[in-house]
Amino acid sequence: MKILVTGGTGYIGSHTVVQLIQQGYEVVILDNLFNSKIEVLDKIQKITRTKPIFYKVDLLDYEGVSQIFEKHKIEGVIHFAGLKAVGESVQIPLTYYNNNITGTLNLLRIMQEYGCKTLIFSSSATVYGMNNKSPLVETMPKDSTSPYGATKNMIEDILEDVYVADNNWRIVLLRYFNPIGAHESTLIGENPNGIPNNLLPYVALVAKKKLEYLNIFGDDYDTIDGTGVRDYIHVVDLSNGHIKALDYAVKNKGIETINLGTGTGTSVLQIVEAFEKASGRKIEYKMMPRRAGDVATCYAEASKAKKLLNWEATKNIDDMCRDSWNFIKNIE
Ligand code: NAD
Ligand code: UD1
Repeated sequence: MKILVTGGTGYIGSHTVVQLIQQGYEVVILDNLFNSKIEVLDKIQKITRTKPIFYKVDLLDYEGVSQIFEKHKIEGVIHFAGLKAVGESVQIPLTYYNNNITGTLNLLRIMQEYGCKTLIFSSSATVYGMNNKSPLVETMPKDSTSPYGATKNMIEDILEDVYVADNNWRIVLLRYFNPIGAHESTLIGENPNGIPNNLLPYVALVAKKKLEYLNIFGDDYDTIDGTGVRDYIHVVDLSNGHIKALDYAVKNKGIETINLGTGTGTSVLQIVEAFEKASGRKIEYKMMPRRAGDVATCYAEASKAKKLLNWEATKNIDDMCRDSWNFIKNIE
């Protein structure tokens, strides 16, 4: 079965491509390389002994995307491509709406034209907004707290409408919690440019002594130790969830929304401790005021994924910190 992976050279996409190839799928990657590097293809080849077909194409290029469907009989799409920095989306909302929404509309129109109606979409726990209490359940009301989050919400709604209009679609919306970790080969992982906003990449740079200390945003939350609690999930577990979602979609027409999380929360201080253990390095930190827009606690109710997809996370925080560290420690 031939699968198109948009954003397939990115962080989660590259791990998913590895698993797709290992499970015997034929993979075609589309990526504009805005936030990933072409060298990822060699790394995928090293891990799987297969070089995936790759097109450097932007989803905003309708003709370019159409040509991929013209050339290949694409039977399903896993759609990762999108811009994802929450803070940046507040600064340049039009770029985010254009890239994420227009890009997805192009993809959907082309899929429809070529009769390809199987889609797995990368949504995010951000759609739960600030007002729901964890564990977060798929049926809870949605909200947007940034243009980035609004694009995820809108795409979810667009896909619901697409299904209502044509019940032949097979769509799974996957809401990810906080993906961290890297492939155990240490060949692929997350390596953001500049100073990271997210916790794990920041902690890793402190461990490498590229940054002096971690700013912990808030120690007065109503949590186990006062610091923010999140549902961190190993990127390999997360990728595996996509394979299960694809299996499900191939067998079932319909649209389903499914959380991909572990169902357990970990605090910032617990992450610091686990990362110190994994790296053997001291992580210096300073307590700072709360970061605007943060919630105290965010973790998934993960039972729908287990029931519908027969999927559950297998790796713990120590595995995640070890694999993150093994990947990042050798990178300049
Ligand atoms: P990433 O930036 O590593 O990967 C996204 C890829 O899409 C990049 O390689 C980028 O070059 C490509 N891309 C972006 N716009 C494109 C366009 N118009 N045309 C073609 N390619 C384009 O991000 P990731 O962490 O792998 O995230 C993948 C998806 O999962 C995104 O949609 C993101 O919003 C979503 N998500 C990520 C997280 C997270 O914490 N990483 C959490 C929830 C949801
Ligand atoms: C972020 C995104 C969210 C996305 C999620 C998963 C923001 C505002 N939200 O959420 O949309 O779905 O990632 O990728 O970016 N922290 C520190 N110091 C730091 C960085 C973070 O103390 O330098 C704390 C935060 O306050 C939070 C926890 O670490 O309690 C995790 O933060 P982060 O990695 O940024 O993820 P989220 O805020 O959960």
